[in-house]
Amino acid sequence: MVLHLTPQLQNRFAIEGFLFLVRCSKHFQLVRNMKATISRWYRKLTIKAFSRKIRVTIERIRGLDFITVLQPEEVGYDSQCVYRSSPSGNKYLVQLLEDIGITDTDSIIDIGSGKGSAMRSMLKFPFAEVGGVELSEQIAAIAINNFKKLKENRCLISSCDATAFQHYGRYNMFYFYNPFPNDIMSKVICKINESTRSDDEILIIYNNPVCHDLIISNGVFSKIKEYPDEWGNQIYLYSNKSLEHSRLSRSVS
Ligand SMILES: C[S@@+](CC[C@H](N)C(=O)[O-])C[C@H]1O[C@@H](n2cnc3c(N)ncnc32)[C@H](O)[C@@H]1O
Repeated sequence: MVLHLTPQLQNRFAIEGFLFLVRCSKHFQLVRNMKATISRWYRKLTIKAFSRKIRVTIERIRGLDFITVLQPEEVGYDSQCVYRSSPSGNKYLVQLLEDIGITDTDSIIDIGSGKGSAMRSMLKFPFAEVGGVELSEQIAAIAINNFKKLKENRCLISSCDATAFQHYGRYNMFYFYNPFPNDIMSKVICKINESTRSDDEILIIYNNPVCHDLIISNGVFSKIKEYPDEWGNQIYLYSNKSLEHSRLSRSVS
């Protein structure tokens, strides 16, 4: 059977065919771009995982353990109240501390200090003291061993619940890397407010700030700057002073 098409229909088919081919080529282009993006990410993740493995091995050889992750269940805690122990001592934290202009009149404490990774970055600066408070005795013991091996004598690690810690008054900077949920954070912020002097500037550095609303809720602290972190969660810097009266303005200008 021979199909006779009118010239109009022939034109119509030609145009539709042409548009179909254009759509297909766009589709293939899109698929190709997606594949390229996925393989770029895969390569990045593989390189990251590989370099992490190398760092873990080097640490092991030196008798250190700052990097390996421990889940709360592994040390006898409930993951609803205690978040996992993972490291945050890296270039992002160092960049933030460089911005603040640390002197030897400053002291900082890492609340939920884990194996001491963030404290290790803090020790690159001239802090008078770098404190740590860690709930798990087992994890605190690993951190203490790390700093003993590194012969660091400016740090002081206490193994207790951050809600029961009695010495927040020694510090003017407080670091959190998402250690616990709102109800515990609320008690800790109250303790910090009770034990620090309001005429001194107090800074809170909060990495992965999931309890941000709570921190600013009582009006003492406000967010004065945001910094990037390794995982895209951001690090918020809070102060009990406004930005114009903060040391941040002085050290940046
Ligand atoms: C995400 S890790 C942070 C480790 C370290 N700050 C760093 O950035 O390298 C959080 C740590 O907080 C500890 N933690 C959780 N609840 C706590 C509490 N109530 N008091 C003290 N430490 C706590 C956990 O055991 C865990 O080691």
